[in-house]
Amino acid sequence: MKKVSLLFLFLFIACGAQETAELTTGEEIYTARCAACHQADFSGRAGPSLKTARVLDMPDSYWLQTILNGKGSMPAVRITEEQAQLVIDYVRESN
Ligand code: HEC
Repeated sequence: MKKVSLLFLFLFIACGAQETAELTTGEEIYTARCAACHQADFSGRAGPSLKTARVLDMPDSYWLQTILNGKGSMPAVRITEEQAQLVIDYVRESN
């Protein structure tokens, strides 16, 4: 790894928040943008569990709408539609 990217890596760790463009896998996006409220194991904390059949059976369009525009007390998550799709696939694959 180049020195510059190492420096950026340390900066991201130091700041505790990754730049949105740096989040390239569903797992990275989930960890950085969802886990605080929905917990790393999807069981829920401030936000509801994402493991229930009721939520998992909702179509991608519902998930996209919820993630990109927010829903009730869930604020809109500032990621691209592509990143939202990656995170949806990740949650579905993991449950
Ligand atoms: C700041 C906390 C917070 C963050 C961050 C957050 N959520 Fe939520 N989420 C909530 C809350 C609270 C609700 C319940 C909203 C409501 O219905 O009032 C919710 C609801 C949802 C729902 C709908 C569940 C249902 O019962 O219909 C989905 C799906 C969801 N979140 C996915 C995600 C994903 C994926 C991310 C990351 C991209 C994310 N959330 C980030 C707090 C959060």
